[in-house]
Amino acid sequence: MRGKCFMLLAGLAVLAAPILGSAAQEASTLPRAEAQAVYTYMTKTSPYQQWSLWPGKDKLYPGTQPHGALLTSYVNEIAAKTLKDHKQAQGLPDGAMIVKENYSPDKKLMAVTAMYKKQGFAPQSGDWFWIKWMPDGKVEAAGKVSDCIKCHEQAKGSDYLFTAAKAGH
Ligand code: HEC
Repeated sequence: MRGKCFMLLAGLAVLAAPILGSAAQEASTLPRAEAQAVYTYMTKTSPYQQWSLWPGKDKLYPGTQPHGALLTSYVNEIAAKTLKDHKQAQGLPDGAMIVKENYSPDKKLMAVTAMYKKQGFAPQSGDWFWIKWMPDGKVEAAGKVSDCIKCHEQAKGSDYLFTAAKAGH
């Protein structure tokens, strides 16, 4: 009896190992450059509220048009190192993510805007994938969004990042 049971358990372990292994691997895999994949990654696979805040910024710091009166920006680990080292002029590494919550003056969440560095996705505009979603999760714009690019181009020298450009001075 005991022998049989052990055999069964050993057999299950052998079967389960590759399944569990691939699930763990998938969780750490960055999303492809597609609206729902990026949204799901940032909100569920690796919820952005668990990332670090933009180095040197607190929650609800003052922002400008068009984003909102108050902003809270989160960065993933890949982005955090470059920003902390003030090396954004060299470009953020593949997989870097920035998620910014945009609030009204009375601290109501209006929209979320994010950037995701995907090597080879958009060589003309810093390989950034842009995405904007509403508080209810509806994705309003995603991909090579010309509105976002046209304005953020002003900060091309710091890899399209305005906040980094100011922080460096
Ligand atoms: C008219 C100019 C303008 C447009 C259009 C614009 N942004 Fe921005 N963005 C800014 C400025 C300026 C900042 C710096 C924060 C601030 O002062 O509001 C910023 C900050 C950001 C940040 C934080 C990183 C940084 O650059 O400081 C993200 C992420 C971002 N914007 C995403 C987007 C996305 C996504 C879109 C398009 C849906 C977009 N932005 C459209 C001007 C713009």
